[in-house]
Amino acid sequence: MNVSVDFCGLKFPNPTVVASGYLGVTGASLARCVEHGSGGVTSKTLFLEPRKGHPNPTVLTFQGGVINAVGLSGEGVKNAKHEFEVYADRCPDNPMIASIGGATIEELIECAEIMNEYPIDMLELNFSCPNVHDEMGRPFACDPQMTADATAAIRKVTKKPISVKLSPNVANIGVIAKQAEANGADALTVVNTMGPGMLIDIDMRRPILSNKVGGVSGHALKPIALRCVYECYQNVKIPIIATGGIIQAKDAIEMLMAGGSLLGIGSALIYYDMAAFDKITDGIRDFMKKEGINDIEELVGMAHGDMIDHSKLDQNPD
Ligand SMILES: Cc1cc2nc3c(=O)[nH]c(=O)nc-3n(C[C@H](O)[C@H](O)[C@H](O)COP(=O)(O)O)c2cc1C
Repeated sequence: MNVSVDFCGLKFPNPTVVASGYLGVTGASLARCVEHGSGGVTSKTLFLEPRKGHPNPTVLTFQGGVINAVGLSGEGVKNAKHEFEVYADRCPDNPMIASIGGATIEELIECAEIMNEYPIDMLELNFSCPNVHDEMGRPFACDPQMTADATAAIRKVTKKPISVKLSPNVANIGVIAKQAEANGADALTVVNTMGPGMLIDIDMRRPILSNKVGGVSGHALKPIALRCVYECYQNVKIPIIATGGIIQAKDAIEMLMAGGSLLGIGSALIYYDMAAFDKITDGIRDFMKKEGINDIEELVGMAHGDMIDHSKLDQNPD
């Protein structure tokens, strides 16, 4: 039974990939994910220069998932080379997807050019963080033209495969996906967090996050993310890293059926820590065995097709 995935010319031993942001950019912590079953990893979004991000508290859980306003803190692309080298050394068979961001297209271009010299396998363009509006304005992925312009600009300066990370906070994700594809994206990462949302401390009578608002992920995001993956799959031919609320194997199988080829694992790490990867891959394998499916590729997009007419189903086979 095959659960390995060929994605943009890269071989992932299984479909799970750490989602950007959960484990920073430290080579050792990302390598630890691979040692615990992750097929590949995505590094935290790096900007050109170091960024402090928002003050604590920045990450909270609630019944429906997780809300965060980390604010894209990081050491900056210029200072991160060593971490990518450590990872490449320890995990030569598990692709590294390096996430970059920028307030402007010029900044993104500079980041991509620096990354050309680093031992990474693919670039993920974070066009979709919902909790830095004050500083950066509307994310590129909330506008088809901005997505087109920024993707085209990066395409010109790198030969590495590019995945454009889309936002669920739009009315027309299919149109935006098409713009990314038409302007040189090799893949899409669908999706970033939704919102922003808010939680209030009723004793303090104030929002809990220091930033007041943050992006929502985990369980609450899953049905939205699933619909976004389904819609993107209908609109583009490039493959998709499905991300958003994949906590259990069942969520992962739904994402594959909606059209995801790889599976971004984020909030599940809060609930299951490093066990999340094997739990999800083993659950996919069990399902494939039960259903007589030999290659995971067969699951990708399986939910597309004519709807089943429930009125014609024989409810009483006896
Ligand atoms: C604490 C935290 C930090 C994150 N940092 C980033 C980031 O740096 N870049 C990015 O593209 N997405 C970031 N994300 C979004 C995740 O990569 C992912 O798209 C989102 O959480 C949905 O997946 P999940 O429901 O499995 O967590 C972050 C999410 C969280 C909760």
